[in-house]
Amino acid sequence: MRGCDEQKRILGKKVTASREIRKLTTPQDLFHAAAEEFIRAATEAIQKRGRFAVALSGGSTPKSLYALLAANAGTSLPWTQMFFFFGDERHVPPAHPDSNYRMANESLFSKVPIPPGNIFRVPTENPDADAAAAAYEQTLRDFFGAKPGEFPSFDLILLGMGPDGHTASLFPETAAIREKSRLVVANWVEKLQTSRITLTLPVLNAARSVAFLVSGIDKAPALHEVLEGDGPGEKYPSKLVQPEYGRLIWFVDRAAASELRSAA
Ligand code: 6PG
Repeated sequence: MRGCDEQKRILGKKVTASREIRKLTTPQDLFHAAAEEFIRAATEAIQKRGRFAVALSGGSTPKSLYALLAANAGTSLPWTQMFFFFGDERHVPPAHPDSNYRMANESLFSKVPIPPGNIFRVPTENPDADAAAAAYEQTLRDFFGAKPGEFPSFDLILLGMGPDGHTASLFPETAAIREKSRLVVANWVEKLQTSRITLTLPVLNAARSVAFLVSGIDKAPALHEVLEGDGPGEKYPSKLVQPEYGRLIWFVDRAAASELRSAA
């Protein structure tokens, strides 16, 4: 957990978080590299703390990662010590085709021996998005034992990035970007004409590890802006994900990286 001021007192200085950009040739290479990182993070967390708490990303990119984990690690990972949350969720019921929970359930949960009690989906059947967000925030506080002013530290948060530079449901120039105290909020997204429920930046930045998975040519302009541009974070929210004490790894394929200037 991170109470940021408390952590700074204890540590005396802010550890400069590391940012690593891993360029993979194909999407499949990207998913294999991300699966290795997932397994590494899970193994380390369980060895050190007896459990692994991960926030899954939604959308389409991570489906292949989840399917790979289900196919290759179905019997080798200690699923009973692994706890699954969501970085964001659409405000639709869990069986809706747009639901991130449904996508993760179909590609992963239904294929491996995860105890149902280890899966914490956002209660989006509640027609009140603010109430769903508040309930999910309490779920996080209860699981992590996070008191007011403290931010839970996920062992791993998986994130995607949209062509507009959004991540989770932190869309450009939306209110949630500016949230500094809540863990989870409902965020009205004008261009989608819908509310989303999303973890806030303080939670993303309190993680021990954050892994972005970015694949495809349509992401190339935003990826250049986020990683190399000097535009404001309000316009490219992925740029605001800078874990204070944790690792930040960008898994990008050749198409998504095609507008990056840096050779690294
Ligand atoms: C969501 C995601 C969102 C996603 C990006 C990229 O709920 O859609 O959390 O942030 O990661 O929009 O989506 P794709 O992987 O589908 O390109």
